[in-house]
Amino acid sequence: MDFPKIRMRRLRSSPAMRRLVRQTALSTDDFVYPLFVREGRGLKEPIKSMTDCFHFSPDTVAAEAADVASLGIPAVLLFGLPDKKDETGSQAWAEAGVVQRSIREIKKAAPELLVITDVCLCAYTNHGHCGLIRNGKIDNDATCELLARIALSHAQAGADIVAPSDMMDGRVKYIRQTLEENDFKDVAIMSYAAKYASAFYGPFRDAAESAPAFGDRKGYQMDPPNSNQAMAEIALDIEEGADIVMVKPALCFLDIIYRAKQRFDCPVAAYNVSGEYMMLNSAANAGLMDKDSAMLEMLYSIKRAGADIIITYFAKEAAGQMQKSK
Ligand code: PBG
Repeated sequence: MDFPKIRMRRLRSSPAMRRLVRQTALSTDDFVYPLFVREGRGLKEPIKSMTDCFHFSPDTVAAEAADVASLGIPAVLLFGLPDKKDETGSQAWAEAGVVQRSIREIKKAAPELLVITDVCLCAYTNHGHCGLIRNGKIDNDATCELLARIALSHAQAGADIVAPSDMMDGRVKYIRQTLEENDFKDVAIMSYAAKYASAFYGPFRDAAESAPAFGDRKGYQMDPPNSNQAMAEIALDIEEGADIVMVKPALCFLDIIYRAKQRFDCPVAAYNVSGEYMMLNSAANAGLMDKDSAMLEMLYSIKRAGADIIITYFAKEAAGQMQKSK
């Protein structure tokens, strides 16, 4: 069969025809919307490094979460900025910590919305690393114990899913065991399983005030040229008890998302990170491209690669646009 029997353009001839043969569908059900909370009251402060993103306080984040839920988005992902940082990041597991209080407020305002929490030390330590430092080095196993404490405190506050983002070895095992021992059998773990040492976290580190004070994260986050290692990381996390595995960032790592989806049966999440978000926002702002269509193109590419879940700062905007186009 060849031309003219085959004319590929027939199936592109009208909007309805294109809709009919469209292979990949985006749904608000796919989205997770990240939120930043800090100590205070009545806050909704624009984040300078991230367009249309805000620092909320535990009281105001509840209303924002209710708004997210009303758009049909099933989950939020919480990041906390504590008032006080120290060597061990102790505010991260405080019962009255900013994330713990925010979870309780959100659960009151939007009980059906899933609350996912980022489990990490970097925003809570005075050195900004994701692990505990002993003799100038990150102590992997001691860090895992602290991460399990953080996850437990989030579960106690009502989190539905805990999401460790530190890249220490064995953290999922520690967290799963701690949750089981404390009877939080239904709290799921979404592990940042294949998380790369990426320059695309730049705007986020500003927003979360979590940049490392010295060195970088290359000793724990993955080296971007590697892909087999990502499969090994994901396999280990599943074995240790992760329910959902994440690839991060998304756009420079679509091949990793694709491979993960082909190989593993559990849901695969992809994090459309701050640098990806701001790259498009900056280009659109400069009049270089149409933001709405470029945004959907980005989100489709992540979905098409195989992501079941997309964590994105575009979630609200995309949900709004998808409602409009219905
Ligand atoms: C914390 C964490 C980071 C992000 C999510 N959790 C930053 C980092 O690892 O340096 C990045 C998210 C984004 O860029 O949107 N470990």
